[in-house]
Amino acid sequence: MSAKSLTVTDNRTGKVYELPIEQGAIRAMDLRRIKVSEDDFGLMSYDPAFMNTASARSAITFIDGDRGILRYRGYPIEQLAERSTYLETAYLLLHGELPTVSQMDEWVYQITHHTWVHENLKKVMEGFHYDAHAMGMLVSMVSALSTFYPEAKDGTDGETRKLQIVRLIAKMPTLAAFAYRHNLGMPYAYPDNHLSYAGNFLNMLFKATEVKYEPHPTLERALEALFILHADHEQNCSTNAVRSVGSSRVDPYCAVASGVAALYGPLHGGANEAVVRMLQAIGSKDRVPQFIKQVEQGKAKLMGFGHRVYKNYDPRAKIIKRMADETFEVTRPNPLLPIALELERIALEDDYFVSRKLYPNVDFYSGLIYQAMGFPVEMFPVLFAIPRTAGWLAQWQEMIEDPEQKIARPRQIYVGAGEREYVPMGMR
Ligand SMILES: CC(C)(COP(=O)(O)OP(=O)(O)OC[C@H]1O[C@@H](n2cnc3c(N)ncnc32)[C@H](O)[C@@H]1OP(=O)(O)O)[C@@H](O)C(=O)NCCC(=O)NCCS
Repeated sequence: MSAKSLTVTDNRTGKVYELPIEQGAIRAMDLRRIKVSEDDFGLMSYDPAFMNTASARSAITFIDGDRGILRYRGYPIEQLAERSTYLETAYLLLHGELPTVSQMDEWVYQITHHTWVHENLKKVMEGFHYDAHAMGMLVSMVSALSTFYPEAKDGTDGETRKLQIVRLIAKMPTLAAFAYRHNLGMPYAYPDNHLSYAGNFLNMLFKATEVKYEPHPTLERALEALFILHADHEQNCSTNAVRSVGSSRVDPYCAVASGVAALYGPLHGGANEAVVRMLQAIGSKDRVPQFIKQVEQGKAKLMGFGHRVYKNYDPRAKIIKRMADETFEVTRPNPLLPIALELERIALEDDYFVSRKLYPNVDFYSGLIYQAMGFPVEMFPVLFAIPRTAGWLAQWQEMIEDPEQKIARPRQIYVGAGEREYVPMGMR
């Protein structure tokens, strides 16, 4: 018997099975050998919401939730947020290594020269109502891109795949900025090739009558760092959507559109908006203890606290908290910040939160920064979708190249009615 195995006794039959353990996991397919009879389908595992099922081997992002560690391709998130740029981090996620000077020059050139979108896409945008949600528009615009690049359907060709990756990363800020300006009724601002990725995004959002838009370096850097922090987070809901939809070999525009759709949901990309609304409802610092009591009594939830994976301070939240101070020196201070700080101070000492290992997550402070930078809450999930595109595409590429992957197709446990006769409508 191997030391790296699991011995299982099926008490229905008394038979004993040995299941190999590899990298801390058994293969669910090995359970199928466990049968009560020859014609039995075999044992399955039941795991709603994938609470304990690894669906991929991945070399992209590492998280240790208990110790509050997040690394992209081995590099700690703290070092990347401080020293890298978003495009360099995107390159790292996609290629596995940091670029050399010439690789980086070529990568930045490629992305910068694919930021324009076909003029017909503006007509698609015009079809939306003036107050359409920016995220709803983004889902549609990303999937619309698929119709402009029919060659993207050929998933077998590596060069074609690379081109679509460049296009998606390059065009995402353009589509997002168009959606923002559509809501305001402002003419679209075209990309400026002389600006950085984040700087150009600010340009497309906020450029008014000036001949050349100059982003404030502190805000440009803050946005760049926020983009790095949001670039990937291993097998979360939207990444799982991209992998699953992409496993049908649909083009990456449609696969990424499914990721944007998943991110639109309030449980995923909408939490920082919920934090801002919660802080507004609390209203002032002196009302914090009263609010904490309501949370303890189960009457309210402290939004921006707690995480499925992190049972420690979310490392991204630490970085964002530091960044908030620098940002507020440029923008006017956000009046909600003192309330947030007081909430955190009390919660971190309070037994309810300590015993449940509830710490601030990435969303606790990011909304305050976005708000101070002038973004409406509807843009918050859009600001998440732009950088996550690199992560989605890195995961999509890894899935396509993984010989173990097939079209994603979970099993079910059928609990419905047994066979019954159709009854004509008049006799029901
Ligand atoms: C993120 C979240 C969905 C994770 O949920 P989860 O892993 O399923 O954890 P659970 O919901 O099982 O929480 C465990 C316990 O902590 C409590 N809890 C979790 N998050 C809480 C919060 N933000 N405020 C108050 N109580 C919370 C739960 O009520 C539960 O208490 P119980 O054991 O007495 O029933 C959850 O923490 C949450 O809703 N947080 C607020 C929303 C948010 O910030 N989301 C962004 C995540 S990046």
